[in-house]
Amino acid sequence: MQKSVHVFEHPLIRHKLTKLRSVDTPPSDFRRLVKEISLLLVYETTRDLPVQDIEVQTPLEKTRGYHFEGEKLIFVPILRAGLGILEGMSEVIPSARIGHIGIYREPKTLESVEYYAKMPDNVPASQVFILDPMLATGNSAVAAIQRIKEFNPISVKFVCILASPEGIKALHDEHPDVAIYTAAIDRGLNEKGYILPGLGDAGDRLFGTK
Ligand code: URA
Repeated sequence: MQKSVHVFEHPLIRHKLTKLRSVDTPPSDFRRLVKEISLLLVYETTRDLPVQDIEVQTPLEKTRGYHFEGEKLIFVPILRAGLGILEGMSEVIPSARIGHIGIYREPKTLESVEYYAKMPDNVPASQVFILDPMLATGNSAVAAIQRIKEFNPISVKFVCILASPEGIKALHDEHPDVAIYTAAIDRGLNEKGYILPGLGDAGDRLFGTK
């Protein structure tokens, strides 16, 4: 099976990602930058989705047009940092449905623990996008994908802002069918499972916690 990783190297994304990394960027700017990067990512992540041919009446004549079936997409942020990406993606595609999955990393073992999962009811007719800014060890991503697959979606994509080589490998070892979309692939992980050079703890930086 083809394992796909899409890295967006657009100059605007690089510029905004650099600001996001900076330790001097306060939470208000961090949230805005995550949203702006997500607005740009959404175009690439949905590039291969089908559109319906429809007819449209302009003020002058009838012509052919397209309808994008946003209601057949489900965005699933991994709580809580995934909410930052959700804000941008749902602004571009407001008709997408939204699920939530709550997973935290056990600080000592870095194992993922699920504490919440709620999905809309149309999953078998939908394509699911799992959202998390950081693909680090891959443990949360693998657990979230496993859980979402129990609902039988048409397909699953994973959307992040930074990925580590370790996280990409872990995700694709378990789920080779899941395409990964990221703004950059960083060097690796430190002993605490943080991405290097990274941007720190995305949840804390989004919400101003420690
Ligand atoms: N989660 C984060 O928020 N940051 C990392 O570097 C790794 C996981």
